[in-house]
Amino acid sequence: MRMSKQLGAVAALLVLTAYLGHAHAQERFSLFVGSDPKTVERMVKLAGLRDHETAIDLGSGDGRIVLAAAQSNPTVRGIGVDIDAKLVKQSAAKAEELGLADRVRFEHRNAFDADLGKVDVIFMWFFPELMRLVRVKILEQARPGTRVVAALWGMGSWTPDAVDKEPTEVSMWIVPARVEGSWDWQLDVGGVQRTYSAIFEQQFQTLEGVVRTGNRHGIFHDLKLSGEQVSFVLMMTLPNIGFTRHEFTGRVTGNTMQGAVKITLPPKTNEEDEELQSLVLPWQARRTVTSAFFAPTGVDIR
Ligand SMILES: C[S@@+](CC[C@H](N)C(=O)[O-])C[C@H]1O[C@@H](n2cnc3c(N)ncnc32)[C@H](O)[C@@H]1O
Repeated sequence: MRMSKQLGAVAALLVLTAYLGHAHAQERFSLFVGSDPKTVERMVKLAGLRDHETAIDLGSGDGRIVLAAAQSNPTVRGIGVDIDAKLVKQSAAKAEELGLADRVRFEHRNAFDADLGKVDVIFMWFFPELMRLVRVKILEQARPGTRVVAALWGMGSWTPDAVDKEPTEVSMWIVPARVEGSWDWQLDVGGVQRTYSAIFEQQFQTLEGVVRTGNRHGIFHDLKLSGEQVSFVLMMTLPNIGFTRHEFTGRVTGNTMQGAVKITLPPKTNEEDEELQSLVLPWQARRTVTSAFFAPTGVDIR
């Protein structure tokens, strides 16, 4: 079976590294092997760069990904960061030659010192250990919604949001907002002001959650988190109302989630009006330090 150019390059890179006895260096350093042109094209495509966005390549090598990103859209800006001064110089010269120097810059810098707070897309192709190490920096500094695009290796436990599988894997992850923790909100349902105390667990973009209102406890369903956009469903029997369905959709910004909730109420008992009733209310949740979820509930659980 014919080995792809990219896989061949990776194999050579691994053998060379082992030979040089640089195994520990994999944690903080990767040798230069340029991505093949087809992979560069697929990475740029998967990133889906929009007008006026900024892309960074951590370990930019000879600059090929940053330059291709800038060439893909005349309003896109690019930043390349590499630990090898020679490659940085070479990349800057190439940007001049291609007439891209006004939108593209290359920095001689360790990837760990790169500024990830103002970029929309982060490209990366390092040794797997180094990619996983950079994850904490991404979660700490990148804005929710930032796309991370990497070739070949995964990002440990992070599940990609999109994968282009053939002929080699190129994956994209969307940095999620932080939802993990305790949140409270109030809603007026059926003329009664109710407090909802929710607790969310989060593994990258995967959410689970539970909630309490009054003495009722419930589990959220269909939880979705993409960047700042969150949605989830709660089905719960409320005292004096009956079985309800709550569909929450909103945006997470820091310690606030804001959006709307569609509440579907049971049909009224009178025969003329048997349709399900639904109402849409504004919804605003605030992060809390402690949660009423854990307050004593007593034994009246019916
Ligand atoms: C496998 S090459 C990828 C080059 C380019 N991104 C591409 O796909 O064509 C890895 C690059 O990362 C650079 N590098 C390695 N460790 C680094 C670090 N800690 N910080 C910044 N750059 C690093 C190397 O000099 C090399 O150019």
